[in-house]
Amino acid sequence: MKRLSVLGSTGSIGSNTLRVAAALRDQFEVAYLTTHRNARLLLQQVREFRPRAVAIFDETVASAHTVEFRKLGVEVYGGFPGLLEISRQQDVDIVVNALVGAIGLQPTLNALRKGRRVALANKETLVLGGKLVMQKASQVGAEIIPIDSEHSALLQCLAGEEANAVRKMVLTASGGPFRERAAGDFQNVTVDEALNHPNWDMGPKITIDSATLMNKGLEVIEAFWLFGLDISAIEVVVHPQSIIHSFVEFEDCSIKAQLGLPDMRVPIQYALTYPERRPAEFPRLDFTQLSELTFEQPDFEKFRCLDLAFQALRAGGAAPAVLNAANEEAVSLFLSRKIKFDQVPALVEDALTNCDYNSCSSVEDLLRYDTCAREHVHRALGTPLG
Ligand SMILES: NC(=O)c1ccc[n+]([C@@H]2O[C@H](COP(=O)([O-])OP(=O)(O)OC[C@H]3O[C@@H](n4cnc5c(N)ncnc54)[C@H](OP(=O)(O)O)[C@@H]3O)[C@@H](O)[C@H]2O)c1
Repeated sequence: MKRLSVLGSTGSIGSNTLRVAAALRDQFEVAYLTTHRNARLLLQQVREFRPRAVAIFDETVASAHTVEFRKLGVEVYGGFPGLLEISRQQDVDIVVNALVGAIGLQPTLNALRKGRRVALANKETLVLGGKLVMQKASQVGAEIIPIDSEHSALLQCLAGEEANAVRKMVLTASGGPFRERAAGDFQNVTVDEALNHPNWDMGPKITIDSATLMNKGLEVIEAFWLFGLDISAIEVVVHPQSIIHSFVEFEDCSIKAQLGLPDMRVPIQYALTYPERRPAEFPRLDFTQLSELTFEQPDFEKFRCLDLAFQALRAGGAAPAVLNAANEEAVSLFLSRKIKFDQVPALVEDALTNCDYNSCSSVEDLLRYDTCAREHVHRALGTPLG
């Protein structure tokens, strides 16, 4: 029996993780859960999985529901300290980080410090603190197993291969809902249109990132840290059907790819059972039902965010932290209908041009750059930092 802690259990990845854990009840016990403010869903999850404790980030919601949870024998921790408390619990084997945003960095580091396996969906952890996080993992000998379907695909393609045999990694991108829309029309994109992803059903932030292609940029940075390749050996190809989740090309001209229907339960289960594979009852890919698999170059001019992510990775230091923070603020402003879709890349570019990001050797440094970038976005717009 392995004990799981699921950070962000009320989100898209968190809920799917619990569905995987429920199907593998003989192997996994759910010990801890956390939410931002969705106490109603958390309560349902508590009734089903009977964890030892939960954390609710929103202190008001946490206080309002403490009695209800305690009646079920479950301790409630509140606020950011509560999330940190859950992430450093001793009696777990795997911490699933399904939080969204930079808030995920410190819980990942806490779990690694305890030597736990981190099943990592929260890509912002590595975008923000890739160097520190990978150093910590190797220092303590803890594993980071990616949940992102592209990185899970890369990990699966690399199984049994020598690192020096790899020539390049190719991350596939669906291209999002605006692959065929003219860039000149991006100012008219509505929130509902941007939230309508053609292939994947995900939380709002990553869905907008998929529409701007920032998501692929963040994944390039994540791949860089996870697999230790040169930037020039990481490529992106648009594959609108989302059947091939990524490729690895080897020195001998062989290419390995990992395929499957777009269903996050597959990489989630792999991250939990790695390096083993367990039987699953998810829908299976039927090749005879596939009409085509197509591939095209990404349009870096139309999707500026992808280019900006490569630029930030090349710039190094805390540039990816600045990129990430500015993007989080811009996406949040777009989702609350305060800015237009085409302002997202403009605000990220402005932050990268004007914010400092040179020296960076600690979490405190990273968080300082993160805050500066967020403040910069709001100063540029004259809006208050939330
Ligand atoms: N969804 C996917 O298919 C997918 C695929 C690959 C990678 N990822 C990555 O996985 C991560 C999670 O994505 P998602 O789509 O599952 O997001 P989501 O549906 O928005 O869920 C995020 C979870 O984190 C909680 N949360 C949000 N802000 C928080 C805060 N400030 N403090 C504490 N908890 C907070 C949410 O609580 P509430 O429910 O109360 O909001 C929810 O439980 C992201 O980094 C994303 O890029 C997602």
